[in-house]
Amino acid sequence: MRIDILTCVPNLLESFFAHSILKRAQQGGFVEVNVHDIRDYSTNKHRTIDDYAFGGGAGMVMQIEPIARCIQALQADRNYDEIIYLTPDGELLQQRAVNQLSLKGNLILLCGHYKGVDQRVRDLFVTKEISIGDYVLSGGELAAAVLADAIIRLLPGVLNDETSALTDSFQDNLLAPPVYTRPADYEGSKVPDILMSGHEAKIEEWRYEQAVKRTRERRPDLLK
Ligand code: ADE
Repeated sequence: MRIDILTCVPNLLESFFAHSILKRAQQGGFVEVNVHDIRDYSTNKHRTIDDYAFGGGAGMVMQIEPIARCIQALQADRNYDEIIYLTPDGELLQQRAVNQLSLKGNLILLCGHYKGVDQRVRDLFVTKEISIGDYVLSGGELAAAVLADAIIRLLPGVLNDETSALTDSFQDNLLAPPVYTRPADYEGSKVPDILMSGHEAKIEEWRYEQAVKRTRERRPDLLK
């Protein structure tokens, strides 16, 4: 998989991808992440990429030309399965969409800033619009990082224990059950006996019951 991220603040994203699982995923050849500075595609000497909104109003709007040039340069070298714009008015991100995106080959993630991008970018280039929650961030970079992280950890081989992504919260519309590790007794607070029993089938049953209980208490909407 290849993910190209278009932003006017590339520094924000570079360190995010340079650590931990995301770093290993790239070193292992499971994914290639490229961050592009939209300013590199500006044609004026101040490298500006935004302008005042037609019709007035507060806030700047990101112009179509630099974004279009950047996308077209990428498309000249390969086809993209989706061009995704991160925006609070996009489709709310759910695990199901992450699963689907993890099966794609090449993705472009476009990060907005200020008042967002000129509507024509969305009309002419963008194939999918995604929001990571009903709140407004100061830019799309954190949202792109969230989306990329959720996708990359699902790529086969990225997680050490291949089954562990399957037991995540949301994968079966259930929240994950509680987990414990050593010590078995922390100042009198003990790990449930069943987990120490070695009885695999009973442990699975207990985990399932706990997942249902937790989901009913915290997210009853998921059980509908
Ligand atoms: N950009 C600003 N806020 C956002 C959000 N909630 N989701 C995705 N992109 C955004």
